[in-house]
Amino acid sequence: MALGRPAALFQVLPVDELRWEDMSAGRVHDLGENLTMATRSAADSTLAAAPLPDRIRHRFPIFERRLYVNSCSQGALSDAVRAAYEQYLADWDEKGAPWEYWVERGEAARATFARLVNAAPDEVAVTTSLSAGVSGLASGLRYARRSKVVLTDWEFPTIGQIWHAQEARGARVVHVPEAADGTIPLEHFDRAIDDDTLLVSITHVCYRNGAKLDVEAVTRLAHERGALVLLDAYQSIGSLPVDVRELDVDFLAAGVLKYLLGSAGLAFFYACRELVERVWPTATGWFADRDIFAMDHRDYSPAPTASRFQSGTPPIPAIYAGIAGMELMEEIGIAETREHVLGLHTRLLDGLDALGARAATPREPERRGALLCVASTDAPALVAALDRDGIVTSSRAGNLRISPHAYNSVEDVDGVLDALARNRRLLA
Ligand SMILES: Cc1ncc(COP(=O)(O)O)c(C=O)c1O
Repeated sequence: MALGRPAALFQVLPVDELRWEDMSAGRVHDLGENLTMATRSAADSTLAAAPLPDRIRHRFPIFERRLYVNSCSQGALSDAVRAAYEQYLADWDEKGAPWEYWVERGEAARATFARLVNAAPDEVAVTTSLSAGVSGLASGLRYARRSKVVLTDWEFPTIGQIWHAQEARGARVVHVPEAADGTIPLEHFDRAIDDDTLLVSITHVCYRNGAKLDVEAVTRLAHERGALVLLDAYQSIGSLPVDVRELDVDFLAAGVLKYLLGSAGLAFFYACRELVERVWPTATGWFADRDIFAMDHRDYSPAPTASRFQSGTPPIPAIYAGIAGMELMEEIGIAETREHVLGLHTRLLDGLDALGARAATPREPERRGALLCVASTDAPALVAALDRDGIVTSSRAGNLRISPHAYNSVEDVDGVLDALARNRRLLA
């Protein structure tokens, strides 16, 4: 559904005409609550038909020592990612400075991420963090004709900080609050987005409570009012299908270290092709240049592609690892992972109910990501108690964060529930 790249564009750069075509891909996600372990019969004896974790778990050695359910923070290390880091060292050691090959690896990472989100490679910037890409965007917008940036109270701190930093350049930042039931209803966006709104900055899945936003609805509303949309997809990418055409967002940023199984140091920034040349990043560097080999220190000519949101030397070691992680997730299957994790959630939620614990994440499967949060009287103490039992979790805002991924099993969920039962006094 094309609503037109909105009026806000025209103030980004003075371009007279704007072409916009419908590029929505029409993919449908199956968010069924059931699946894998419950419906698979014992007759599933071939490896290909085995439950997801049985097929892949051996590739993640941490499970020999720990029960790992903390992918919202960092994905588990796989044999493939370890081998990628070893390969980086071998290439460095054997070839010295193979920069042509390393630049090609950056292009391979760009193409892999583009494929994952259904973008074209020239719509993707290779960055060192989500913050770097979003800062490039923020530095390239003008806050004159439209000055308002609307963001939610579910944003990761870096998003709020970057937009508030733009107040010095004329931006007016407005927060969309959460309702008492822990959701952000569309009416709240309706009240905040107006014809002075330049950009709406939203997060796909909240890092604090695991709630998933109805991105399409917010985007439709923003576009109707001529505003652009930036999506922070860090807590969703790799855990469920993310398609920039289907979501119809203008910009998207995400990194590889969580459900994409990569490491710190590599992220990506997507900018819809129609918008790229209308943004003029002033936070920049030589890898954003039209021709990085021109080595021209007397000129700033940003690339005509999304590479203009890049900065300095690319994070080569993290690129090796990130390609390995993303390819492994492609091989495992992101749609299948989503179904598998929702099945684990059902078991987890039933177990929490039996314990009288309170889930801080919405019950409806389409309103949550892979992260499931549990209210606690002392979340750091609960994380520490679970850690003593060999279970790796994390906490935010008073909630225990449990974030199952493709490699987690029914037994993992039962292990977590047993440990929570032993620590019942720390559940709110
Ligand atoms: C939703 C979300 N956005 C952004 C970030 C941080 O991104 P970066 O450190 O790459 O800028 C995180 C990290 O945990 C996150 O969960």
